[in-house]
Amino acid sequence: MKKLFIVANWKANKTQAEAAEWMERVQSEQYSVSEIENKEIIICPSFQLLSLISDFLMESPANEKLLLRLGGQNLSGFGTGAYTGEVPAELLKEFCAYSIIGHSERRENFNETDEVIYRKLLQAKQHNITPILCASNPEQVRSMKAIMKNDSDKLKIEEMIIAYEPLFAIGSGKSDTPENANENAKQIKAEGVQYVLYGGSVNPDNIHTFTTTEFIDGVLVGGASLDPEKFIQIIKRA
Ligand code: PGA
Repeated sequence: MKKLFIVANWKANKTQAEAAEWMERVQSEQYSVSEIENKEIIICPSFQLLSLISDFLMESPANEKLLLRLGGQNLSGFGTGAYTGEVPAELLKEFCAYSIIGHSERRENFNETDEVIYRKLLQAKQHNITPILCASNPEQVRSMKAIMKNDSDKLKIEEMIIAYEPLFAIGSGKSDTPENANENAKQIKAEGVQYVLYGGSVNPDNIHTFTTTEFIDGVLVGGASLDPEKFIQIIKRA
């Protein structure tokens, strides 16, 4: 049975009260062993919720059964110090073993280029945060790999999780076909990547069509992860 990553990207949503309600609901659900045994669930909330959710995970006995982890949605390309408004990897590390890096919404709205993303990947590596690096096609993975190669030594694509997220599928309600997503995952794996996730309009009805393909190792879920009922079904049906 292959390992599956189910990543919830809450984006810029949820107050503390809403996040607490979500956690209580998802953790109180009954899961059979076969529904969760091969799955790692990674919740990526906005930064101001990390401490609250971290406390939940430490206190709840349900966490022993359900493998829930925390991830960032982004991190700084700089270290600690005089960088107002940034969250550096060294501080994120207190809560997160993972972080999404280079999401297409950041490329589009915050001018993140390959070079900016590269600096973020370096910071993640330095502080042992596994990147969930987003790519809208295999070409983007190749170009990141080329940058890493030029700067040699430190970064390895093999150590990253890649989330294949075609632009047309994000938030549109129109997911990629499982066949096409699988083909893209295959090409990304040909670059040496071990784990490839699919993201873009994943929901409880289509989750299974992606996780049962040969080359896809999980999903990155945006909109449908906000609703605990939908997310519970996504976990169970993956
Ligand atoms: P979506 O978002 O599931 O709402 O399409 C996915 C993502 O942006 O990671």
